Amino acid sequence: MKALVYGGPGQKEWKDVPDPKIQQPTDVIVEMKATTICGTDLHILKGDVPAVTPGRILGHEGIGVITEIGDSVTGLHVGDRVILACVSACGRCSYCKQNLNSHCLADEGASGIGWIFGHLIDGTQAEYVRVPFAENSVYKVPEGVSDAEGILLSDILPTGFEIGTRKGRTKPGDIVAVIGAGPVGLAAVMTAGLYGPAKVIAVDLDDNRLARAKEFGATDVLNSGDDKWKEKIMGLTDGLGVDVAMEAVGIPDTFTAATEIVRPGGTVANMGVHGTSVDLAINELWISDIAITTGLVSASTLPMLLKLVAQKKLPADKFVTHEFSFDEMMRAYDVFGNASEENALKLLIR
Ligand SMILES: NC(=O)c1ccc[n+]([C@@H]2O[C@H](COP(=O)([O-])OP(=O)(O)OC[C@H]3O[C@@H](n4cnc5c(N)ncnc54)[C@H](O)[C@@H]3O)[C@@H](O)[C@H]2O)c1
Ligand SMILES: [Zn+2]
Ligand SMILES: [Zn+2]
Repeated sequence: MKALVYGGPGQKEWKDVPDPKIQQPTDVIVEMKATTICGTDLHILKGDVPAVTPGRILGHEGIGVITEIGDSVTGLHVGDRVILACVSACGRCSYCKQNLNSHCLADEGASGIGWIFGHLIDGTQAEYVRVPFAENSVYKVPEGVSDAEGILLSDILPTGFEIGTRKGRTKPGDIVAVIGAGPVGLAAVMTAGLYGPAKVIAVDLDDNRLARAKEFGATDVLNSGDDKWKEKIMGLTDGLGVDVAMEAVGIPDTFTAATEIVRPGGTVANMGVHGTSVDLAINELWISDIAITTGLVSASTLPMLLKLVAQKKLPADKFVTHEFSFDEMMRAYDVFGNASEENALKLLIR
C-alpha cells in the first residue's frame, strides 16, 4: 500500500510500505476512504515532537471501511464504515473509565498516552490502517453523513468542544471569546453555539479567518493586530470581560491575553499546544475567582457530536476548503503548509 512516511525533520514521502496486519485480537484493519492533515502533523515535520521517529506513517484523522477484524472483536464487522478517533482507548483502564481516553494506561504505544496514531504507532495518512482497541476507538457512520463531515469528528470538533466549550463551562447567555480562528478555534466557536451564548467573539490576526468565523457562528470578530483589541472586548462586555476566554493558538501572548480579558468568576480554557512556559500574573488573578483549564482531547464526545452532525445541527462540512486524491498527498501538504495564503482550513484527501 501507499502511505505518507515521516523521514525525520523536514522529510516526508508518499511511498510503498507493507500492508498493516492484525497484531492483537482487539484490532481491526480499515481501508481509508478519506484522511486529512492536522497542524500537529506540521509540528511533527518541524521536529517538535521527538517521540515520532523516522519511518512512522503520519496522520490521526480519518474515515474508512473495515476489511479485517481481530478474533475478539464482536461489535464491528467487515464492511462497516467507521470514523477513527484520534485517541485510541482501551476502554478498561481507570482513565478510560473516566472518559479521559487521552491518558489511556494501556501499553499500546506508551502507557498514559492515548494519542498514538501517527505518533507512537502508524497513522491514518495511508491506504490501510491497523486500529488498536477498535471497539472503543472507531464509530460506525450513520447514513447520510459524508466523508467531509466524518473526518471533522476524529479530532477537530471533539477538541473544540471538549477542551474549549465544555472545559470553558460555557453557559446560556455567556459572552465567549475564542483567540485563534484556525480549525480548532472555529470548532470551539461552532460548538459554543450549542449552549446559546449571548456573544461569541473570534480573535485572529488573519481577516480571512475572521470572515470564516462569522460563518461558524461568531457574532463579533476582532483583529488582534489592532492594539486596541482588548479594550474593544471590554466595550463588547460592559467593561467586565468575557465569561469564557478560549486560547486556540499555543503561544504565550495569546494565553496571557486570555487571562486579561476574562471577567471575575469566568474561565480560561487553554486548547493550544505550547512549546514554552508563560508568566501567570497570579498576583492580579488570585482575587478573580477564575478557573484555568487545560487538556488533550479524549474524543469521548465523538458519538454525541456525530449525532448532531447526522441531524445537520452541526455543519461539520463547512471546514473542508480543498479536496485531493491520495496520490496528491504531497501537494496537499504544500497547500496545508501555506494555509493562510491558500485560504485552507481542512483538506479532504480521498
Ligand atoms: N489540546 C488539544 O487536544 C489540541 C488538539 C488539536 C490541536 N491543538 C492545538 O490547538 C491550536 C490550534 O490548532 P489549529 O489547527 O486551529 O491551528 P492553526 O495554526 O490552523 O490556527 C491558529 C490560528 O491562530 C492565529 N494566530 C496566530 N497568532 C495569533 C495571535 N497572536 N493572535 C491571534 N491569533 C493568532 C492564526 O492566524 C491561525 O488562524 C494549536 O496549538 C494546536 O496544536 C490542541
Ligand atoms: Zn490533530
Ligand atoms: Zn485505557
